[in-house]
Amino acid sequence: MAAGAQKLAVSLLFVLGGVLSFPLGQERKDTVTCGYESCHATKPDMLNVHLVPHTHDDVGWLKTVDQYFYGDRNDIQHAGVQYILDSVVDQLLKNPDRRFIYVETAFFYRWWKRQDSGMQQTVKQLVNEGRLEFVNGGWCMSDEATTHYSAVIDQMTIGLRFLNETFGACGRPRVAWHIDPFGHAREHASMFAQMGYDGFFFGRLDYQDRDRRMMAKEQELLWRASDSLTPPVADLFTGILPNGYNPPEGFCWDQSCNDPPIRDDPDLEDYNVDDVVKRFVAIAENQALVYKTNHIIMTMGSDFQYENANLWYKNLDKLIRYVNGLQSNGSKVNVLYSTPSCYLQELHRANLTWALKTDDFFPYADSAHDFWTGYFTSRPALKRYERISNSNLQTCDQLEVLGGPVSRKGPFGEGDSQTLKKAMAVAQHHDAVSGTEKQHVANDYARKLADGWQHCQVLVSNSLAALSGSSSQRIYCDNLNISVCPLTASSKKFSVSVYNPLARPVTWPVRLPVNGTAYTVSDANGKPVDCQVVPVSKATQDVRRNRGFAVNELVFQVQAPPLGYSTYSVSLLQDGSRPASTQHRTPTVIQNKFLKVTFDPDTGLLSSLSNLETQQSIKLAQNFYWYNASAGNNFLSIQPSGAYIFRPNSSTPFIISSTAKTESIQGSVVQEVRQWFSPWVSQVVRLYADSRALELEWTVGPVPIDDSLGKEVITRLDTSIQTGEYFYTDSNGREILQRKKDFRPTWQLRQSEPVAGNYYPVNSRAFIKDVRKSTSKNQLDFGGDLNHRLDPGMF
Ligand SMILES: *[C@@H]1O[C@H](CO)[C@@H](O)[C@H](O)[C@H]1NC(C)=O
Ligand SMILES: *[C@@H]1O[C@H](CO)[C@@H](O)[C@H](O)[C@H]1NC(C)=O
Ligand SMILES: *[C@@H]1O[C@H](CO)[C@@H](O)[C@H](O)[C@H]1NC(C)=O
Ligand SMILES: *[C@@H]1O[C@H](CO)[C@@H](O)[C@H](O)[C@H]1NC(C)=O
Ligand SMILES: *[C@@H]1O[C@H](CO)[C@@H](O)[C@H](O)[C@H]1NC(C)=O
Ligand SMILES: *[C@@H]1O[C@H](CO)[C@@H](O)[C@H](O)[C@H]1NC(C)=O
Ligand SMILES: *[C@@H]1O[C@H](CO)[C@@H](O)[C@H](O)[C@H]1NC(C)=O
Ligand SMILES: [Zn+2]
Repeated sequence: MAAGAQKLAVSLLFVLGGVLSFPLGQERKDTVTCGYESCHATKPDMLNVHLVPHTHDDVGWLKTVDQYFYGDRNDIQHAGVQYILDSVVDQLLKNPDRRFIYVETAFFYRWWKRQDSGMQQTVKQLVNEGRLEFVNGGWCMSDEATTHYSAVIDQMTIGLRFLNETFGACGRPRVAWHIDPFGHAREHASMFAQMGYDGFFFGRLDYQDRDRRMMAKEQELLWRASDSLTPPVADLFTGILPNGYNPPEGFCWDQSCNDPPIRDDPDLEDYNVDDVVKRFVAIAENQALVYKTNHIIMTMGSDFQYENANLWYKNLDKLIRYVNGLQSNGSKVNVLYSTPSCYLQELHRANLTWALKTDDFFPYADSAHDFWTGYFTSRPALKRYERISNSNLQTCDQLEVLGGPVSRKGPFGEGDSQTLKKAMAVAQHHDAVSGTEKQHVANDYARKLADGWQHCQVLVSNSLAALSGSSSQRIYCDNLNISVCPLTASSKKFSVSVYNPLARPVTWPVRLPVNGTAYTVSDANGKPVDCQVVPVSKATQDVRRNRGFAVNELVFQVQAPPLGYSTYSVSLLQDGSRPASTQHRTPTVIQNKFLKVTFDPDTGLLSSLSNLETQQSIKLAQNFYWYNASAGNNFLSIQPSGAYIFRPNSSTPFIISSTAKTESIQGSVVQEVRQWFSPWVSQVVRLYADSRALELEWTVGPVPIDDSLGKEVITRLDTSIQTGEYFYTDSNGREILQRKKDFRPTWQLRQSEPVAGNYYPVNSRAFIKDVRKSTSKNQLDFGGDLNHRLDPGMF
């Protein structure tokens, strides 16, 4: 379906030809001159070089977000954002021509709060005159591969809302600016278009794609970022920056750089103005060869630069003066202080036709053996925690509204949603949920989320007390992931409330740690609900260690209305002599009314899957393997496999075990086959009575390291579906993109990493389907349509 629509769009545009320009937002008519009106004049008959002074301030990476703000732990990395903002404001005041852009509202907000009203007034003035301009303006610069669109919208909202409340219309960013994320998602472009941005700039794309685009002058393009929205709703002008986000070689004048300053005293021996100007003009003219207009952009700054902004600005002032000074001698190069939106305005005025792009910029490789596909799965525990926190935040936000003001201050004390909102916002950063930060920084993100949960739980308790009229104490089972919940494990009688933050009703299996063997469960009307007690798996007990004692789990299906909750009562049956349902022989089949799942009796592995409604069957084998990680000693490249880059040393993975020991559990609510592959790999294959989905819950780790080999663990499904090498993955949990093995829709791929070069991010779903016309249209879905979750599914 996606494929057909895409093809149609592309061929239509070929026919129509040059209609692909892009709109700019309305220009302002008020007295202040920020935005497009505040741009410096350019010269139509010259090459105009837009110098964009900027700093790239990671909201956590090698240091925590707080350490970066204050400039703490400069032994780890010299970086202090508070000093950057102090220094930049000071320097902007010295020369009204100077410009600066600021991007990460998480930092700007902290700084702003600590300024006196005089300074705040000064900064407002700079913003109103377009000398200080916000670009992007979200709380952080989000990761694009591993984020869910709902959390991205939330983090953009708090950043943009702060800017609007603080600066009004002049605080509104016109340009989205993702200069560092490691690959670019189509859904991000779609969201930015729908948020009203006029254009988007980024720095990283596949090196082969860049080479081709440079030759074709297609580094500036129109991104049509949705298959389903009618153009131009999701159209976004997109520009690829010339040198990542760094200044051109030889022109870094930060205190952290070693390039020569402009020495312009002609009486001195080392006068270098002629040399600097000559080098600069040569770079500018070269750059102009690979872009379409007589305007080019240069990013004058980099990571945490401008802490001593005087160095940069003093040299930039001189560069502009000396390069432009040559114009009287016939030079056709004009340099100016600029911003991304001023540059964008000139491209818009050029009234050209831009290349069209309808797919995305994944995966990102910056050379033949450096595919940045490792971070799709780095730090899986933090990724899952972030995703569950997103669910909790939606619940918290909704109950804050539904319960009214008493939610924030009520019988259980003071609660709020802001703490979790901000923790979630920093967690979207491209070194947070991406998993590319240091361990102590990952711990800090998790701690912030946990703190947010605490604040939300008080709010939720207050809200539910108001909504239900009962202020009995509520306990939150935060550790169901390891089957720990002291209340359910030790009580004979308790009630359970489940909240559904989705806008449609859900049915959802609940698993509660218990120590008894027989229970009754009833819904709010006293109607009994079928339930089943199953033993806690050995793998879960191992991960839990001594943090809980429940020997069983009570399983039952709950139903919850949209944006609402339901409550169930649970009681231990006194004659708890009924044993938990367990059988120890290997079953060959588990089935419910929708699915029949077959296991190979000799190996204990999955062997086939049948859809009982359509009478279709596929062969389905599944097992666990590991790729030997490249240690970086390979003759082709010194790149090791790591947190960012996935690089197997060989394309053939090692099998962990060709057989699994199994044990099965059969009951009226759920059937399980528990597979044990090795001391560090096990899995539960689970089929609920009322579900069209088969659940595979794996437990992997601790990964053995005693052989000193890096292990990239995978699960692989081998099916009889003939895919034609096509597969489908979601973009930020929203629309689907078609993928093809060793293929890119927009350029002729030379594949150099047969495994890592075929990995794509998956946030909510992926699927394959049969391409044979004659046979039934089998489709196998992963993740996704389990109707209750926003889990990351990593395949
Ligand atoms: C921006 O702030 C103004 C003044 O507070 C408010 O009226 C307006 O609705 C805000 N705009 C947006 C898009 O939130
Ligand atoms: C302009 O050109 C003249 C003649 O070539 C030269 O003497 C002079 O130094 C040049 N001026 C600048 C600013 O380079
Ligand atoms: C832009 O170009 C089109 C043709 O490509 C032309 O019809 C139109 O008048 C131009 N607009 C401006 C403002 O120059
Ligand atoms: C389980 O979830 C808690 C948060 O509720 C988290 O702190 C913990 O790390 C998770 N445990 C595992 C084994 O993933
Ligand atoms: C839980 O059950 C186990 C086995 O039946 C028993 O040994 C243990 O004492 C129980 N623990 C608690 C806290 O009830
Ligand atoms: C694994 O890869 C490393 C290099 O990264 C190599 O030295 C080692 O021999 C490989 N081991 C196996 C079992 O393939
Ligand atoms: C794995 O690594 C070893 C050691 O660097 C190398 O000799 C060998 O060729 C690699 N194997 C493959 C298949 O790349
Ligand atoms: Zn960064």
